[in-house]
Amino acid sequence: MINIKEEIAKRIAEQASDLTQEQIEQIIEIPQDQKMGDYAFPCFRLAKVYHKAPPLIAKDIAEKLSGDSMFEKVEQVNAYVNMFLDKQQVAGIALESALDRENFGKSNVGEGKTIVIDFSSPNIAKPFHIGHIRTTVIGNSIYKIFDSLGYNVVRTNHLGDYGTQFGKMICAYRHWGNDEDIERDPIKTLLAYYTKFHVEAEKDPELNEEARKTFYNLEHGGEDEIRIWKWFSDLSLREFNRVYDMMGIEFDAYDGESMYSDMMPGIIQELKDKGLLQESQGANVVDLDEYKLPPALITKSDGTSLYCTRDLATAEYRKEHYDFYKNIYVVASQQSLYFKQLFKVLELMGYEWAKDCVHVPFGMVALEEGTLSTRKGRVVFLEDVLKKAVEKTKEIIMEKNPDADAASIDEVAKEVGIGAVMFNELSNSRIKDYVFKWDQVLNFDGETGPYVQYTHARCASVLRKAGEDAVAKAQTGNVDTSFLTGDAAYTLIKLLYQYPEVVQDAADKYEPSIVTRHIIDIAQAYNKFYHDEHILVDDEAEKLAKVALTIAAKNAIANGLDLLGVKAPDRM
Ligand code: ARG
Repeated sequence: MINIKEEIAKRIAEQASDLTQEQIEQIIEIPQDQKMGDYAFPCFRLAKVYHKAPPLIAKDIAEKLSGDSMFEKVEQVNAYVNMFLDKQQVAGIALESALDRENFGKSNVGEGKTIVIDFSSPNIAKPFHIGHIRTTVIGNSIYKIFDSLGYNVVRTNHLGDYGTQFGKMICAYRHWGNDEDIERDPIKTLLAYYTKFHVEAEKDPELNEEARKTFYNLEHGGEDEIRIWKWFSDLSLREFNRVYDMMGIEFDAYDGESMYSDMMPGIIQELKDKGLLQESQGANVVDLDEYKLPPALITKSDGTSLYCTRDLATAEYRKEHYDFYKNIYVVASQQSLYFKQLFKVLELMGYEWAKDCVHVPFGMVALEEGTLSTRKGRVVFLEDVLKKAVEKTKEIIMEKNPDADAASIDEVAKEVGIGAVMFNELSNSRIKDYVFKWDQVLNFDGETGPYVQYTHARCASVLRKAGEDAVAKAQTGNVDTSFLTGDAAYTLIKLLYQYPEVVQDAADKYEPSIVTRHIIDIAQAYNKFYHDEHILVDDEAEKLAKVALTIAAKNAIANGLDLLGVKAPDRM
């Protein structure tokens, strides 16, 4: 497909040969105000090269570009070259690519490159709560975005299935556990034990010592500890998978922290050999003072390994197994400092690929009553949120459409309810903190997932009414684009041809919300077009052009929603 920005950059590069086409592409802007053109090129950077005032350079370039059939007009305003594209030509280009649903917005820039993405990664025997939704949904979307750009993406779930908390959990189970309760409702029961452990340990500090020993045994082959731990793990995974299924999320590997336990002695030895390990109050650390970072903790005084040690092993393992181009961690911003330490240690170990490790942080979710706290039992289960959203959607559908058949209501309610929750997660830039509010998650008005899905269903309905014949003809793209130059249609067309750029931008910034915002814009533009103009008019040529635009909008919304992991139903 033709990338318009690239085409423009090519033309400017011919005029201003001192910048490369790529540099120019980075400078080209999309003006906020449509009156300033579809694209603008600021000439400030050329002033130095040409020893000329930017407006004079802009004037020169504008004049030279003016004759090009790609543009309706090119103007110089101050230091800017403002370019107005030829609407019909652009409509043709946009339709040609957007009508090809299969390939629209996709590319193969990533061919031959492997990306490992570590996301979700919940902790075993702990609730899969609303705090995990972000890494899960953002990670899944980043996977989909890179996948659509041709990368080979490995989704890995670095389950937190190791560490001292298992000592506590096993202790608690031994003191107060009941197998039947656990089998019936594993995570809530284990959570109750874990909470109780902390309450009791305040009164009786001996318990902490017992927990420490229990974890030591677990790490050193204690049979009973391993048996209980495995049982907890299996039960937890069963629950996690239920939630992943609801959201349609899959992983290629469930390589939890425990998988790397065998590699611990090797890592510790390696750090020693490389002269990086230091003793500090009985523990082993890598000192990072020189880099203004706190020391990285490698082993505790009793020799047990830590989160960081396991992550060092994990990174080495991933490089060996996948030879990654990028190794991405979608983990809360609370761990930003930790990842700086981790990557720094890898660098000091001499791994040049440390630079390919990327932490993609996101902001915190809090509850109205305060921060989430597993220990204090202040949690909202993700599964409950998803279920509630589905129920509420079902109510709304039944209210609006009492005659719909039950099976299809259930299906749509699932797609819309769960889609709404996921879409909501991906609406704001990921780094923002937010407070979880039931009514916000269950609000389906305004710029929400259901609104975008509804627009998709509206396009589908227009196409059903247009009939198969008209749709087949429009699908060829052989339509008269002079019918698509009205304001509403043109706004939509612009959004369509920008869509591939938007996907690439979202990938560069690891920011799915860029896609979310764009498909909201597309939905709004289509709805405006739908209200402002008659689509299924008598004039055959006009009708086909507008049907083609409807197919294109539908494809863009469907592909965009797919990148978010959200379904696009044809009927709602
Ligand atoms: N289980 C960790 C947590 O819940 C997240 C793990 C992220 N991945 C990693 N390789 N450290 O905080």
